[in-house]
Amino acid sequence: MSRKPLLAGNWKMFKTSAQAREFFADLIKLTQFKADREVAFGVPFPTLEASVQAAHGTPVIIAAQDVYWENEGAFTGEVSAPMIAATGAGAVIIGHSERRQMFGDTGEWVNKKVKATLAAKLMPIVCVGESLAEREANKTFDVLDTQLTEGLAGFTPADMTTVVIAYEPVWAIGTGKTATPEMAEEVHAHIRKWLAGRFDQAVADNTRILYGGSVKPDNVAKLMSQADIDGALVGGASLEAASFAKIIDFDA
Ligand code: 13P
Repeated sequence: MSRKPLLAGNWKMFKTSAQAREFFADLIKLTQFKADREVAFGVPFPTLEASVQAAHGTPVIIAAQDVYWENEGAFTGEVSAPMIAATGAGAVIIGHSERRQMFGDTGEWVNKKVKATLAAKLMPIVCVGESLAEREANKTFDVLDTQLTEGLAGFTPADMTTVVIAYEPVWAIGTGKTATPEMAEEVHAHIRKWLAGRFDQAVADNTRILYGGSVKPDNVAKLMSQADIDGALVGGASLEAASFAKIIDFDA
């Protein structure tokens, strides 16, 4: 079993190219990028190239925050996986709850986006998570099973080699309400069991499952100490180099 921890920022709709350059210049001064963990950043499309250049010479993987599944064509406003790959980016965040809730991303779309991302040899970071109402109605596992079944439909164990799952309970995003490490671990263990059932034990053992939702410098170590939490997807606390440096340098 080898799951290298992955600490990923998600800038959402923040930062211009100039601000991205400034951010990476600061981050490089604040961390040594420990070799036992990976670091990634989901940045806005117009910032991809500047971010790739600014992070050059570091192990940071730059990611897009969405993708369209066709390679090219008359799809005004959309961006394809080969276009993202051509910027030097290495990953794509797919199916974030903000996209599902505000922009209508469906399980079928998530599936097509993952497929296109894999075809372009990029690492998909597939987000799943339940709303507060779903948690309170005891539907958390059902909701996650459905999102995973739809999002990963048609894939083989070989396809899963580079897929990363991010569990982000919607009620914990941007609210300051983190799932307790025990609550998150319970869900991560469930997702791993689901992967074993849907694929095989090797996929379950090797797939990284990140936690997202109000991860901060002061709670990351406790979350990361859980057996099935393999990393974090960080929104607000990834916007400042000082706070994100503390997150990626957490004491294992
Ligand atoms: P916050 O860390 O701001 O809660 O955002 C989490 C998130 O949505 C990351 O994708």
